[in-house]
Amino acid sequence: MRQLQMDCTLDPDSFRAIARLAYSESGLTLVEEKLSMIQSRLRHRLRALDLADFAVYSSFVCSDAGQAERRHMISALTTNVSHFFRERHHFDILAGTILRDALPRLRTGGRLRLWSAGCSNGQEACSMAMTLLETAPEVADLDLRILATDIAPNVVAFAKEGRYAERLVAGIDKALLTRYFQQATDAAGTVYVATPALRSMIRYRELNLLSDWPMRNAIDVIFCRNVVIYFDQVTQNRLWPRFRTILSPDGWLFVGHSERITDPEAFGFQIQGPTAYRPSDARCATPQTAKGKT
Ligand SMILES: C[S@@+](CC[C@H](N)C(=O)[O-])C[C@H]1O[C@@H](n2cnc3c(N)ncnc32)[C@H](O)[C@@H]1O
Repeated sequence: MRQLQMDCTLDPDSFRAIARLAYSESGLTLVEEKLSMIQSRLRHRLRALDLADFAVYSSFVCSDAGQAERRHMISALTTNVSHFFRERHHFDILAGTILRDALPRLRTGGRLRLWSAGCSNGQEACSMAMTLLETAPEVADLDLRILATDIAPNVVAFAKEGRYAERLVAGIDKALLTRYFQQATDAAGTVYVATPALRSMIRYRELNLLSDWPMRNAIDVIFCRNVVIYFDQVTQNRLWPRFRTILSPDGWLFVGHSERITDPEAFGFQIQGPTAYRPSDARCATPQTAKGKT
């Protein structure tokens, strides 16, 4: 195998070609200020393909022959940081308002569909499942499913395995950790493996938010958090109406703490608390947490 030069740099032409491709394939906006980070994230792709420099890599990945590599490139470029119970107030609304309102319907054969869109390693979907099971253990036997999707195949594979190193489970309360994870040891040390009961609530799939969505039924709750921050306004504005269309009339959309729908009314949404949206004509519920009113 060729020895990749450690000083192999991402030249401006290759950067522009890769940035154009990343944008058209996934909506990711790569800015020149992040060039050195992008370069280091892509170096291992050059090594894996035994390519001499970024000029060769960029022309390969942009060519017809580079189609499979494009998935790896997007995986390498995405930021997959996540943690359990991130932005906890959304889980409080899920327990105290959404599930509370849905339970009577679920108990009489109704369904509840939730979507972790941009799920990364699965911490968000697992946090949703734990919240629901803790609030009403009966949900395991009701028609309730969590779909968890991400564009990056590596994180979807990781999430399906549900094996988390000790440092990754830091945000989980001890009692929940004991209930929903089995402790094991592997070469990397102590790991926590999601129990079958937890995993059975979730379906993990690879899905690009910019491509067609295969879901046929309406979704009641969408968590799309810390994903659109990597998209420009044009891409975000293409996404909001699609979320609005797939959302059930009384549904909920949660975005990340630094994300906003700039003109919610224009996209058919009303604001329902910080970073929470519902269709404009949704019956207005007063968000309550499991412990009381917010
Ligand atoms: C920072 S993580 C957020 C994870 C989780 N939602 C959270 O808030 O902790 C962003 C995720 O969005 C995914 N992503 C980026 N562009 C995407 C796209 N076009 N379609 C689907 N997922 C995408 C990335 O692969 C990454 O795993």
